[in-house]
Amino acid sequence: MILVTGGAGFIGANFVLDWLSSPSAEDVVNLDKLTYAGNIANLQSLQKDSRHVFVHGDVGDRALVAKLLAEYHPRAIVNFAAESHVDRSIHGSSEFIQTNIVGTFNLLECAREYWGSLEVGQKEQFRFHHVSTDEVYGSLSSSDPAFKEINPYKPNSPYSASKAASDHLVRAWFHTYGFPVITTNCSNNYGSYHFPEKLIPLVILNALNNKPLPIYGDGQQIRDWLYVGDHCAAIREVLANGRLGETYNIGGWNEKANIDVVKTICNILDELKPRVDKKSFAEQITFVKDRPGHDRRYAIDASKIEKELGWRPAETFDTGIRKTVQWYLNNSEWVEGVTTGSYRDWLDKQYRN
Ligand SMILES: NC(=O)c1ccc[n+]([C@@H]2O[C@H](COP(=O)([O-])OP(=O)(O)OC[C@H]3O[C@@H](n4cnc5c(N)ncnc54)[C@H](O)[C@@H]3O)[C@@H](O)[C@H]2O)c1
Repeated sequence: MILVTGGAGFIGANFVLDWLSSPSAEDVVNLDKLTYAGNIANLQSLQKDSRHVFVHGDVGDRALVAKLLAEYHPRAIVNFAAESHVDRSIHGSSEFIQTNIVGTFNLLECAREYWGSLEVGQKEQFRFHHVSTDEVYGSLSSSDPAFKEINPYKPNSPYSASKAASDHLVRAWFHTYGFPVITTNCSNNYGSYHFPEKLIPLVILNALNNKPLPIYGDGQQIRDWLYVGDHCAAIREVLANGRLGETYNIGGWNEKANIDVVKTICNILDELKPRVDKKSFAEQITFVKDRPGHDRRYAIDASKIEKELGWRPAETFDTGIRKTVQWYLNNSEWVEGVTTGSYRDWLDKQYRN
């Protein structure tokens, strides 16, 4: 068995679905607090699958985590659980500190105690895989080389600072206690089941609902984009063959300015689901006040994982974004489910002006 945390969120759910799509995969215990970003509907297809056990709970709950480890005896933990939205971290950072830092600390301590109790063979097999972000490295200018694993950490938002802190804890648990960890730092993901507060799903759904497509500042912020299925494949590879105590950067070799991402989505929608008036969805693009401290550019050098483990993304941005737009067009029931309640309140607050 493996223990996945945050497996009802965007990447976690994709990972669990992908993992269990193999008939020979180990079973999954999925611990998720079901915050606004966690959506049990993401896992609907596993409802009758006895290989998946869903547990509603908090990674910060030591008694619960210890109980799950004792009961299910996982061979590995894959830690996705986090508060993950930069804008939310600017409005209020306490949940970010609590889950991303204190929660990771709790998880590490429970897991270390459990690992200490294992027999030698099981102990050697055990892995703690910490899923992190490229945002810990800070911001690049247009001429800087892409982030390598040896780049110093320079986080600029409460979100990235909290993830950086958790990465440091994970590193220290390896060096101090010999606890078997691996960390991956990945660029921006996109794909199915992405909660529509993030740029790509927000733009797709706003376009279809005849709403403005909000772009921060001048839209020239550059991100590297990775299709979520490729991220899941990379995590599987690192979990199986990555070296203990190492960090691996994961990226799509796809640097794009936000405005170009939005225009690409508009072009695909113009083709797949044209507006009634036949005008382009690009007409709905609206520039809004920039996010405070908005990082200008992130870029990932993913050559280490390619050289050591032979992983490279299978999707280009063009193929991945087309699949993603199509997924949102095909899954209106899922979309309807998430576009109610707190999600709407949040969007109103964020884009009121
Ligand atoms: N989305 C990206 O582009 C991206 C890129 C690189 C790294 N990451 C990292 O990958 C991980 C997953 O990101 P995501 O985009 O799927 O996030 P998400 O916000 O969609 O999902 C996070 C999940 O964690 C759960 N959760 C939150 N607090 C919890 C707690 N205290 N205990 C248990 N569960 C809790 C939520 O309910 C949710 O299901 C995060 O650690 C994030 O930092 C994300």
